[in-house]
Amino acid sequence: MKTMRAVLLDKITDGKDIVLSECPVPEVKPGWVLIKVKAFGLNHSEQILRRSEINAAYIQKPVIPGIECVGEVADPSDTDLKPGQKVIALMGGMGRSFNGSYAEYALLPRRIVFPVNSDLPWEALGAVPETYFTAWGSLFECLRLTKEDTLLIRGATCALGYSAMQIAKALGSKVIATTHRESKLPLIAEADEAVIDDGRLTGKIHGVTKALDLIGPRYLKDTLTAVEKGGIVCQTGILGGVYALNGFDPIKDIPNGVYLTGFFSNYPNQQVIDEIFAFLNEKKLIPVSGRVFEFEHITEALTAQDDGTVNGKIVVVV
Ligand SMILES: NC(=O)c1ccc[n+]([C@@H]2O[C@H](COP(=O)([O-])OP(=O)(O)OC[C@H]3O[C@@H](n4cnc5c(N)ncnc54)[C@H](OP(=O)(O)O)[C@@H]3O)[C@@H](O)[C@H]2O)c1
Repeated sequence: MKTMRAVLLDKITDGKDIVLSECPVPEVKPGWVLIKVKAFGLNHSEQILRRSEINAAYIQKPVIPGIECVGEVADPSDTDLKPGQKVIALMGGMGRSFNGSYAEYALLPRRIVFPVNSDLPWEALGAVPETYFTAWGSLFECLRLTKEDTLLIRGATCALGYSAMQIAKALGSKVIATTHRESKLPLIAEADEAVIDDGRLTGKIHGVTKALDLIGPRYLKDTLTAVEKGGIVCQTGILGGVYALNGFDPIKDIPNGVYLTGFFSNYPNQQVIDEIFAFLNEKKLIPVSGRVFEFEHITEALTAQDDGTVNGKIVVVV
């Protein structure tokens, strides 16, 4: 039996306690593709899994975490993909209801595997799938961002925030970015305005027509009152640690003529993936990433994630 190295998670675990285990390379089955993982990004989502969600009944245990990867098709099974084809994959239950990407191989349903035509090195490509898919969907499907807009990115000092800022600036929009740490203001200097977020932006910022809220329910009511009439707020992140709003009164809490939407990255598709790569190519953008680790150093990578010592996307090269 062929074996591989992988992270196996079955209980609440700190990054510093994660180890690599040996387990069988998964066997292909109809409709599922075996990917040789070349790189994967770390996400806040997997930190939530490690810290609490692992106890939920719907998590297959032990589970190989990881909601995204880039790599090559090792075995296409009965699908239309070809051996050796360069692909990216994300979400759709990955790393939760079936094994994910913290491994040398990942067996994934064809519906979440997307061929890409890109010359980016693996570590740069590894920063793309979940982060850029979410940024793109939030900005264009939900916020209908144009270059005439003034975009607020609330909680901009995360992987998603940096990529949204890169895309919006490349489009030509005006960007107001926030951080809750004064020391991180230089990290969002690319924005037209970099603002400290103490929980109250209403009255402090002006002219916002679109808002990408990555802090979430904790400050959502304030985001809704910080935008102009006719503005749209997209609730995508939950960095504030509050996941749902009890006592939310849509009549009083959403100002007249302001629109509230939300984005969930669980349903990726080839068309959007192609649009993202076309935009990156056209604007000559290199995907933003914070730090790259070797797979052997996964414990170090996850410790850095827990300690918050990396600014931006952490990518692990396998
Ligand atoms: N809706 C979706 O489908 C979807 C998809 C992807 C991600 N998300 C969400 O989007 C958010 C960003 O994800 P990510 O993976 O890009 O995160 P990440 O790179 O892991 O970023 C985490 C960092 O955000 C920073 N942060 C900024 N403002 C914060 C605040 N007010 N409170 C706490 N931390 C803050 C923290 O650093 P400092 O405290 O040092 O600034 C923390 O280290 C997460 O909430 C994630 O769950 C949602």
